[in-house]
Formats: sequence, structure tokens, C-alpha cells
Amino acid sequence: MLNIALPTGRMGEKAYRCFADIGYACPGMENQNRKLVFVDEKRGLRYMLVKPKDVAMYVEYGAADIGVVGRDVIMESQPDIYELLDLEFGKCRFAVAAPEGWHDDLSRPLRVATTYCHVTSEYFLSVGRQIETIMLHGSVELAPLIGLSDVIVDIVESGTTLRENKLVVVAEIAPSSARLIANKSSYQFNRELIDEIRSKMEAAK
Ligand code: PRP
Repeated sequence: MLNIALPTGRMGEKAYRCFADIGYACPGMENQNRKLVFVDEKRGLRYMLVKPKDVAMYVEYGAADIGVVGRDVIMESQPDIYELLDLEFGKCRFAVAAPEGWHDDLSRPLRVATTYCHVTSEYFLSVGRQIETIMLHGSVELAPLIGLSDVIVDIVESGTTLRENKLVVVAEIAPSSARLIANKSSYQFNRELIDEIRSKMEAAK
């Protein structure tokens, strides 16, 4: 059985299409609602639908052999997995954003609200700016609007969320897109099959 972890949410449909388009469709996946596991016994496939930020964990610990995850998640959680292919969808970027007209006060640490603490600390370390990280679980755009933080570090896709909250990008950190990833030992044991999936996806891009 090949276990495949796919992200729920905005990347979910495209991630599934990558597999369906190369002949790995699974009955029932198209009209799924709250079901989280789909098995195709005949083909030996099991799809698991998990939160985007959890895909890498499922793959790292071998609960899934392969999966699709954003590079943003890989950068944040640094999982011990193989990154096999850039699938070139789900494009977004990590950025620092602040209220329009904001100026940095260098006399004190910068207060940064984010759900991406690792990326945030690595970035500000690289530019030599001392920070205080305020770890939130979502809606980080609110933090600078109400004075909880000076700036945010978050992913920006269309830019709509920033615009609607009157925030602007003040620094670009790194681009991101969806990646095909594999568990390291699964890749050793199923190399032929996983390489075939990788090649077919590359050809289908
Ligand atoms: C992400 C991110 C931003 C938004 C950016 O949140 O945290 O809020 O997308 O996208 P945009 O530039 O197209 O507006 P998401 O919708 O994934 O939900 P989350 O808050 O649960 O992470």
C-alpha cells in the first residue's frame, strides 16, 4: 500500500489533480466532504487528507510514504524528508509586512507577530535585527493594526489579505510553491515506484 498525504485547503484540489492526472485517481475523492482517508485496495493506494502544516510530519514519521506540501512548511518545520519535485503551483512568498507608513524604531527590538517562528528568527538573524517574536495561530494581520506587534511575517499569495488590512510588504524573505516529498526509508524501499510518480508528474507539469 502506498500512503499519500495531501493537504486540505487551498492547495488540496491541485495536489490531488497531480496524482489523478498521471493515473492515480481514487474513487470518491472528487466529491469528498469530511472524509479524511480514501483507499483504493485494487491499486494499493491510500490517500490521507491532512492540514497543510501537518503533511511534512506524516511523511517524516512514515505515516505517509509521499506527500505534497508547500515549501513554506518545509522551511518552517525543517523535516527530515526528501524533496523530490517543485510542482510549481501554490506559489506564494514569505514577506515582512507592516502598516502603511510604518518606520522601524531601531532603539528597541522589533515586535513580530507570526505563525512561522523559525523562518522569522532565521530571517531577522540574517539581517542582524533584534526581534521579539509573538507567536500566533492565525489572523496575524490583526496584530499590527491593534498594536500587538510592529510587523508580521506571513505568506502572501494574491496580496488581498494585506490590502484589505492596509498592510504593505516591507521586505521579501523567500518564495514558496508546492513540493512532492518522500519519507527517506520509503524512498529506499519503493524507489522505482516513487521515481516513476516523480517523472510522470514532471512530464505532466
Ligand atoms: C494565508 C496567510 C494570509 C493569506 C495570504 O492564510 O496566512 O493570511 O493566506 O493570502 P493572500 O495574499 O492571497 O490574501 P490562509 O488563508 O492560508 O489561512 P491561515 O490563516 O489559516 O493560514
